[in-house]
Amino acid sequence: MNHMREQAIGVFDSGVGGLTVLKELIKTLPQEQFIYIGDTARVPYGTRSKEVIVRFARELAQFLLRKNVKCMVVACNTVSATCMQDLAQLVPVPLLGVIIPSVERIIATTKSKHVAVIGTPATIASNAYQQALQARMPEITIYAKACPLFVPITEEGLEQSDIARLTARHYLSDIPATVDTVHLGCTHYPLLTDAIKQVVGNKHIIDSAQPTAEAVRRMLEEQSLLVTRNTHTPNQLYMTDLSDRLKNIAVHFLGDADCDYQRAMI
Ligand code: DGL
Repeated sequence: MNHMREQAIGVFDSGVGGLTVLKELIKTLPQEQFIYIGDTARVPYGTRSKEVIVRFARELAQFLLRKNVKCMVVACNTVSATCMQDLAQLVPVPLLGVIIPSVERIIATTKSKHVAVIGTPATIASNAYQQALQARMPEITIYAKACPLFVPITEEGLEQSDIARLTARHYLSDIPATVDTVHLGCTHYPLLTDAIKQVVGNKHIIDSAQPTAEAVRRMLEEQSLLVTRNTHTPNQLYMTDLSDRLKNIAVHFLGDADCDYQRAMI
């Protein structure tokens, strides 16, 4: 009997944004138990250097390994774009980031082969999306743009405000008309879909959550790691800083999914 399959799935992010991915994972794999850690004490990562992001990401991965997870999902676009090779050396269980599933979704969606990818400064500067897209579709034209203000706007719950609409216009009004697919390459941006749609109009808008959840399900199936037990243990949600304010922001991102909130010392 493979006991490994009864272990939890580890998920980590720089903060609460990865809860948009966790939400989709819970929907796609309701029988599984998830242990999530968000580095709310040190977020944002997206404006930091690669060296610092790698150091923080390794600590989060080590925390989840101590919890004996059967696989690890890097829900953060910034970490997925900058650290997968470093993490692969450290993590002995199956490891999945958000970039490759997202890239496959972008390729499957675009007809014009002109796409926009938006994300944090670190994600865009890493060229991870650009390289993975070009490797699969050499003729693709990519418009890539960092949108750093989108993160604090969503954390303040301001996505339906004039600030959100003006910021979306500031960043996105020069996306060329030939672009038919806009990928939201940051955990926070799906909350801004309405404001983004108002600027980019009638284009496909996709994000990382659903393609990543599907990729995790496929990987668990292929590796015979799907849980078999029926007894559902509550999902555990760790944050490196936990306050009423942060908990409220977490609920804003995750909705009312049943989770035990705890502070993590890493
Ligand atoms: N989770 C990050 C991402 O998806 C956004 C927040 C941050 O900058 O740390 O890129």
